[in-house]
Amino acid sequence: MSIDTPPRPHGQRQRRTTVYETYLRTDELLSLQKPPDRRLHPDELTFQVVHQTFELWWKLTVEQLRLAADLLQQDQADEAAHALRRAVSAQGVVMLAMRQLEFVAPKDFLVIRTGLGNGSGAESPGFQAILRAAPDLWDAYAAAVERAGIALVDLYAEPQRHRALYDCAEALTDFDEQFHLFRAAHIKLAQRNLGLRAIGTGGTPMPALEKTLRDLFFLPLWEARDDLLARTAAEPDYSGPSGQVSGHGH
Ligand code: HEM
Repeated sequence: MSIDTPPRPHGQRQRRTTVYETYLRTDELLSLQKPPDRRLHPDELTFQVVHQTFELWWKLTVEQLRLAADLLQQDQADEAAHALRRAVSAQGVVMLAMRQLEFVAPKDFLVIRTGLGNGSGAESPGFQAILRAAPDLWDAYAAAVERAGIALVDLYAEPQRHRALYDCAEALTDFDEQFHLFRAAHIKLAQRNLGLRAIGTGGTPMPALEKTLRDLFFLPLWEARDDLLARTAAEPDYSGPSGQVSGHGH
């Protein structure tokens, strides 16, 4: 025992690390946030926890997206749809976590922000990994659909004919939608804290961030709806509104 360590009162035993703590490495995990005396503001804990949460769930998301791509390459669309649904569901978890940041007052966020330097959420490894995984996933899906010899519009016209590929298409659509909703909610959060005209710590002006709301990972799945509408409207016995598509959109 070092001379600085006070003797333990009689009868008090040193606490043993539990199996739970060892397995989950909670010591390390809980030391990954600034201690109270180093925080720029008490809410910096919320800021760090929410961001770290994203990285964990995005790590899991990327694994599921890659797994789905592998399964599609082996024509196991059923299993791929399951992996995709898990990836979609993980986005729901982080969307809820992000709302915690709405409790941080804008004036307090401006204090926390000074600690970020020119760091930016755009550098998030999880976010970047999703951006990289999505095109590979699309290629794997498009190849599986091609091997099945079916056009996307036909897949949507007759979902029951290729049920597993259709389920994948819908799960991919869900993922695209969830990612769009993340971006929209994130922009609203950023605007709550910084207003409508700010330039981010990473140098991106708010209006440029808004433009990302037009980005889609799996554009052909949305266009398949356009095609279905146009085809349905062209049928002689169709009695609904015109299937003419406007010049807006993608
Ligand atoms: C107080 C809350 C937040 C504010 C004010 C905020 C602000 C911003 C701003 C201004 C940008 C533009 C890039 C730049 O110049 O920095 C940005 C980008 C980004 N932020 Fe945040 N952010 C917040 C929370 C979060 C959270 C919780 C995440 C989750 C990881 C996150 C992830 C991202 C991502 C992924 C981008 C790139 C977005 C894209 O390119 O579509 N941000 N953020």
